[in-house]
Amino acid sequence: MLTKEQLKRLNDQVNREASVSRAYLAVSCWAASKGLDGVARFFKGHHEEEEEHMHKIENYIISTGGKVVIGAIEAPPSEFKDVLSVLKMALKKEIEISSSINEMVYLFLEEKNYSTFNFLQWFVAEQHQEEHLFRSLIEKAELIGTDKKGLFWIDKELKNMSLNK
Ligand code: FEO
Repeated sequence: MLTKEQLKRLNDQVNREASVSRAYLAVSCWAASKGLDGVARFFKGHHEEEEEHMHKIENYIISTGGKVVIGAIEAPPSEFKDVLSVLKMALKKEIEISSSINEMVYLFLEEKNYSTFNFLQWFVAEQHQEEHLFRSLIEKAELIGTDKKGLFWIDKELKNMSLNK
């Protein structure tokens, strides 16, 4: 059983996951239109992962007898500067998501809602991985550079990562 405020926090998180999901879909479509198939595939996969996160929270809310409220989300941009800026945007979004998850973890522990606290542990681990992934990709991209050769490498690397998932 969730309090009104707890339910609101979880529904807000559904919206945040939906917002990130749309942003990654927009990046995927942009990359595909530029012929960057690896980048497109990688972000399509991440779009799908974010959809799964959203559904996980929806299902959890329903399992507690709570009501899921799907809210409006702002449209993401359809144009991006380059691949490095897209990776940096993704890291920023993941850090924001981690922060909201951490705030919820604190709240649910404080309020002795151990079931939801436990449910959120999966997201804590997932966020750690996501932040690490984007951070390491940015470091590599900065090291190699984003000229034509660098771009070719990033696209290939992201394609391989998508195929090996
Ligand atoms: Fe579901 Fe990557 O945040």
